Amino acid sequence: MKRGSISQAAAIIKKGGIVAFPTETVYGLGADAFNPLAVARVFEVKKRPDFDPLIVHVAHLADLERLTIEIPSQAKTLMERFWPGPLTVVLLRKEEVPDIVTSGLPTIAVRMPRHPITLKLIEMAGCPIVGPSANPFGYLSPTHAEHVRDQLGDQIDFILDGGPCEIGVESTILSFADSVPTLLRPGGVPLETIESAIGGVEISPPAKERPTAPGMLPRHYAPHTPIVLDWNEQEIDSYQDKKFGFLAYQKTRNNLKFHHVEVLSQKGDLLEAAANLFAAIHRFDALNLDFILVEAVPEDGLGRAIMDRLRRASTMISVNGDSPSSFRGKGKKLYTTEDLLNDRRKERREEDEKKG
Ligand code: TXA
Ligand code: MG
Repeated sequence: MKRGSISQAAAIIKKGGIVAFPTETVYGLGADAFNPLAVARVFEVKKRPDFDPLIVHVAHLADLERLTIEIPSQAKTLMERFWPGPLTVVLLRKEEVPDIVTSGLPTIAVRMPRHPITLKLIEMAGCPIVGPSANPFGYLSPTHAEHVRDQLGDQIDFILDGGPCEIGVESTILSFADSVPTLLRPGGVPLETIESAIGGVEISPPAKERPTAPGMLPRHYAPHTPIVLDWNEQEIDSYQDKKFGFLAYQKTRNNLKFHHVEVLSQKGDLLEAAANLFAAIHRFDALNLDFILVEAVPEDGLGRAIMDRLRRASTMISVNGDSPSSFRGKGKKLYTTEDLLNDRRKERREEDEKKG
């Protein structure tokens, strides 16, 4: 990455533009956190509901002075230990932070990313930078600059290419809004690691209509192709005329039945699996399959974040309506494989009709 492009990106942010930038977790969509108009454009481009607050990225602890009121000692411990890194903490915020950043909440989510390009960008822009993942709301997060280009390329001012993201799942979010620290989203720093630093934390209950962290919405991080987590061998045999892929953790026994197979980590390394997760699903999504069967990964360490994303990608729920693309019906409903296929057929018919 040339220094030149970082300064170009920083100049755009200073002028109120929006820039996609790499981090160690996923690509973010950046704007000056103190420029409400620029932040509004981030919401608009992502089609993100206004009740979903943004994470603010800082390069130095001193940057927090404009953002947060007080930092509880456990939060300090975590920041010392895991910053820069894939941990976001939710703290009480200063009044001067524009309401649009926090969706009017009295709290603000802050994180110091570990990627040298991100840190340089924040320094050169001279302001904290909001950074939701650089994807349309509800869709998969980008882990390569090309993912951003494909999804939002024509709507944003600049893409800073830092290569593939090292970690591949978003930051862990821990809230200090209440007296007991609460895990809002599992992510790049495993829960076990956090608990070994500060002791037990609460785990936030499943999301509601307007959840504290919409990243916790039951349906989120979802590709266009239906993802199926609950399936059995018999089902595979009865869908041989369908195009379906298999997302394997290590090695799959029987590749021939599948139209396409992705293996997250041959050696069973959860770090490697997390780094490959979204890119693998992006590749599936380009193949226009009927569905993707997914193999569960062990739910410890980064496996918790991986399974969290896969569950949200597979659960059918409407976030804000019931158009076919916004997830097939209202309310929580687990679809059977047959439902998925019917939906997929319907969507294809509608696409064909649109094409004429
Ligand atoms: O790894 C990451 O965190 C990436 C990179 C780009 O830094 N960013 C990211 O942002 O995942 P986003 O917007 O996709 O997810 C941020 C989550 C949302 O679910 C949001 O609701 C939650 O953080 N959040 C933000 N501010 C909050 C607050 N004050 N209280 C509770 N949750 C908050
Ligand atoms: Mg996101």
